[in-house]
Amino acid sequence: MIQVVLTGSEGQLGCELQRCVPDHYTLVAVDHEDLDITDVNRVNTFLSTQQPDIVINAAAYTAVDKAEKEAELAYAVNHKGAENLAQVCQQRSIRMVQVSTDFVFSGKHYRPYLPEDSTAPASVYGLSKQAGDRAVLEILGDQALVVRTSWLYAAQGHNFVKTMLKLMQEHDSLNIIYDQVGSPTWAATLAKSIWQLLDKRAQGIYHCADNGVASWYDFAVAIQEEAVQLGLLTNRPTLVPIRTEQYPTPAARPAYSVMDKAKTEQLLQQILPHWRESLRNMLLELTELK
Ligand SMILES: NC(=O)c1ccc[n+]([C@@H]2O[C@H](COP(=O)([O-])OP(=O)(O)OC[C@H]3O[C@@H](n4cnc5c(N)ncnc54)[C@H](OP(=O)(O)O)[C@@H]3O)[C@@H](O)[C@H]2O)c1
Repeated sequence: MIQVVLTGSEGQLGCELQRCVPDHYTLVAVDHEDLDITDVNRVNTFLSTQQPDIVINAAAYTAVDKAEKEAELAYAVNHKGAENLAQVCQQRSIRMVQVSTDFVFSGKHYRPYLPEDSTAPASVYGLSKQAGDRAVLEILGDQALVVRTSWLYAAQGHNFVKTMLKLMQEHDSLNIIYDQVGSPTWAATLAKSIWQLLDKRAQGIYHCADNGVASWYDFAVAIQEEAVQLGLLTNRPTLVPIRTEQYPTPAARPAYSVMDKAKTEQLLQQILPHWRESLRNMLLELTELK
C-alpha cells in the first residue's frame, strides 16, 4: 500500500480526492484545523509521525480578490505553506504533489499555455501560487509534481456554478463577463487525474483541466440550460454579456487562460472530458443532494 497525506481535505479538490482514492493507496486526510501548513514545526511533527510516501497539497488560500488586501496571508499559505511541506518532504524522501493554477499566466497569449511556458501572474493570488510552485520544484526536483488547473467547481464548496444557481433563482437579469476565456473544470476530473498521474510517477509540471473553452458568459448560459433541464432552476433570468471593464474587481484576471493538456493526455492515454459533460455530471450530483 502507498501511504498518502492529503492537506486541505475539506476544500473542493480535497473532498473529490477522497471520493476516488484507488485501492492501492491509503489516505490520511487533514484540513486546516488538523494541520496548518504555515506552521513548519507542526508540518514536521505530523509528517514524521505519519511517514507517508506521498503528500498531496490541496490546501491553499483561494480568495483571489481578497488576496489583494491580504497579501501576507496569501503568501503565508500559498508560498510558505507549500515550501514548508516541500522541505520536510525533501528531508524524508517523500514525493509531493502541488496543485496550482492558470492564474500564474499573464493571459496575453491567444494559444493554449504549455506547461513550460513562462509565467507572469497579474494578481497577488497568482504571484503567491507561482512562488509556492517554484519553491516545491526547486526543493524537491524530480520528487515534485505540480498540477495546474483552472476554473474549479464541485458540488461541495464555493464556486461559480453554485453562485450562478443562487443568483439566477433570485434575479431577472444578470451581467456576465464574456471577454475572459478559460476552461471550467470539475474537481472530480482533476482528482481522478491526480491519482492517475501518481500511478504513472509523473514529475515536473502538468496541466489538467476539462477540455474545451468558454467565457464566463458561455459557462453561465450552459449552467442555466442544464440546471433548468434538471429541475434545479425554475427561474430563467436574462444573461447579459459584459466586458471585464464593466465589472471591475480588485484582482486582475487573465483574459485568456486556456492550458494545453496534451502532455497529461499522452501520459494517461486518454482524452479529458469536455467541460459541458462534466458540468452536467456535477449538476446531476446536486440534484441527488437536494
Ligand atoms: N478554485 C479554483 O477556481 C481554482 C482554480 C485553479 C486552481 N486552483 C487550485 O486548486 C487547489 C484546490 O483549490 P480548491 O478550490 O479546492 O480550494 P478551496 O476549496 O478553497 O480549499 C482550500 C482548502 O485549504 C484550506 N486551507 C487554507 N489555509 C490553510 C492552511 N494554512 N493550512 C491548511 N489548510 C489550509 C482551506 O481551509 P479553510 O477554508 O478552513 O481555510 C480549504 O479547506 C488550490 O491549490 C488552488 O490554488 C483552484
